[in-house]
Amino acid sequence: MQEEISGKYIDDSKQGEALMMPFAKPKNIPSKKLYLESYGCQMNFSDSEIVASIMSDNGYETTNIMEDADAIFINTCAIRDNAEQKIRGRLRNFTHLKKAKPSLTIGVLGCMAERLKKQLLEEEKMVDIVAGPDSYRDLPNLISEVYEGHKAVNVFLSREETYADISPVRLDSTGISAFITIMRGCDNMCSFCVVPFTRGRERSRDPKSIVAEAQDLFNRGYREVTLLGQNVDSYKYTSNKEDENDEVISFAKLLRLVANVSPLLRVRFSTSHPKDITEEVMIAMVETKNICNYIHLPVQSGNSRVLELMNRTYTREWYLDRINMMKSYVPDLAISSDIIAGFCTETEEEHQDTLSIMELVKYDYAYSFAYSERPGTPAAKKLLDDISPEVKLRRLNEIQELQRQHSLESNQKDIGKTFEVLVEGRSKKSADFNKGRNDQNKMIVFPKEDSQAGQYIYVKVLDCNNATLMGQIVPSPIINN
Ligand code: 5AD
Ligand code: SF4
Repeated sequence: MQEEISGKYIDDSKQGEALMMPFAKPKNIPSKKLYLESYGCQMNFSDSEIVASIMSDNGYETTNIMEDADAIFINTCAIRDNAEQKIRGRLRNFTHLKKAKPSLTIGVLGCMAERLKKQLLEEEKMVDIVAGPDSYRDLPNLISEVYEGHKAVNVFLSREETYADISPVRLDSTGISAFITIMRGCDNMCSFCVVPFTRGRERSRDPKSIVAEAQDLFNRGYREVTLLGQNVDSYKYTSNKEDENDEVISFAKLLRLVANVSPLLRVRFSTSHPKDITEEVMIAMVETKNICNYIHLPVQSGNSRVLELMNRTYTREWYLDRINMMKSYVPDLAISSDIIAGFCTETEEEHQDTLSIMELVKYDYAYSFAYSERPGTPAAKKLLDDISPEVKLRRLNEIQELQRQHSLESNQKDIGKTFEVLVEGRSKKSADFNKGRNDQNKMIVFPKEDSQAGQYIYVKVLDCNNATLMGQIVPSPIINN
């Protein structure tokens, strides 16, 4: 199979060669159309904006109409098996398009591409290009190879690539809120997780390029940025690693630098790892009004034995201590979490510990998942995936039911309070309503009156359900919370 693929398939021994390949920009190509679809985390959606930028520099404009496309790229997720199955189903939908237009190029990008490499070409015959998360600069070359009649694969993982110099093309944007990737990869090695294998080693992006991107967004009318990374609290940048005197930019310093762009620019971040969250970050949050009072701090499990099997490097008590530390700085901090139900060997009592840690923390929001074994991960190699699908689902339902109650309780506590809200635009519910978020990232819907997207207004909360607050604009900023 390898001979059919052009020289772009990179096995470990050829990584150096791949790096040295010149980046050839196809010349004078007429404008072509790219249909780009993204799955998975915010990071993936942010990557698609980098892909759109690279492709635009090479004569491809994005289209929302699949049938018009000369190339279809699908930016994939590998985190759970059901994500991959969904993508395979989607790929099969493209087969008829390719029959109708044989020149159509189909590319699979992102984490699933990285995980399966050239195997994907063997399993899904309609695919022409397989490109991992660090190979997007090479996409124009990969397309050229397809034009020459080859299939093309680049799954080289880099230790340096941060796409720092690339200006993302904002896709599906309201023009108010944008993501900025500040680091790539992950060195944590949680035993359940495929990400270290699909996104490679951790590397931080030059803060100058991050601040410049935030400034540019602000100048263009954006009023909120979310700094993204698999583990933002371990962000660390020094321009000269050899020079001891060179200033090291920590995540807390980066937050302040971005917040300095303008007090009118809200700064959020995701995801934090409990082992790395520092008091320095909390102090930056306290001292800087536009760093929002919201942290996504995944717990994964409430039981210390399970946490150890997961290689999370903290215990239940240590996690709770971190929550106390954070709340001691910011009492009205909103906290969300990720939780896995039915991890290898988890007993009923250990599952109860997860429910009880939820009771103690009372997350404002939580994303929860049934454990899905991922090939090649430490858990798949060393642990038994011995919880039946039925039990996983029952435990997941219990977690989700409890979270619904907690989200509702948290929202009910906001009734009667007035919040500063950044207006994002029209509510889906009705043209007469606008929506926006408060500092704690809660969505508020309100009769729009003359409020405009991008404006800061004050809204008094009158009602809620477990997902949304409902309120009305109040003229004066009487903040009573
Ligand atoms: N099975 C189920 N959930 C997983 N996650 C990561 N890997 C797996 C897996 N193998 C969840 C974790 C992580 C979130 C992004 O996805 O909770 O924080
Ligand atoms: Fe994002 Fe992880 Fe899915 Fe990759 S595998 S897209 S990093 S959630």
